[in-house]
Amino acid sequence: MERTLTILKPDCVKKQLIGAVINQIERAGFRVVAMKKTRLTKETAGEFYAVHRERPFYGELVDFMSSGPCVPMILEKANAVADFRTLIGATDPAEAAEGTVRKLYADSKGENIIHGSDSAENAAVEAGFFFAAEEVVRSN
Ligand code: RTP
Ligand code: MG
Repeated sequence: MERTLTILKPDCVKKQLIGAVINQIERAGFRVVAMKKTRLTKETAGEFYAVHRERPFYGELVDFMSSGPCVPMILEKANAVADFRTLIGATDPAEAAEGTVRKLYADSKGENIIHGSDSAENAAVEAGFFFAAEEVVRSN
């Protein structure tokens, strides 16, 4: 079993796609082990994406991620990190494979509906960013 951290981004919440996307995630075999609705501030969004601090899109990314509520979740499945990246598709929806979450629902490379951790190590760090230990409950 492996865990990954996802965020249904503010565009996903705004478009009322929370249920549709979670349905797709569960149908792909992921278990939700933690979930909440929250809102990042510019400061916390900047901290979450600090690895992109020097990138030209960083300011836009921070503004977008703090523009409204989001839904972070910890997901569990064998090979969760890689399988989840496959499920959500390429960063730019124009390049994402058919049937992926971003291909189905995202408008642009910046506003692309969903986040997925890029490694198991980062997934653990990102999980700690949103959830206290008592909020993480194994499904069964
Ligand atoms: P994420 O971290 O959100 O799962 O996305 P990712 O790995 O597919 O892409 P990454 O390179 O980590 O970029 C993080 C987020 O920054 C925004 N972005 N905008 N306008 C642009 O060129 C651009 N590039 C990246 C996206 O919201 C991307 O998901
Ligand atoms: Mg990334």
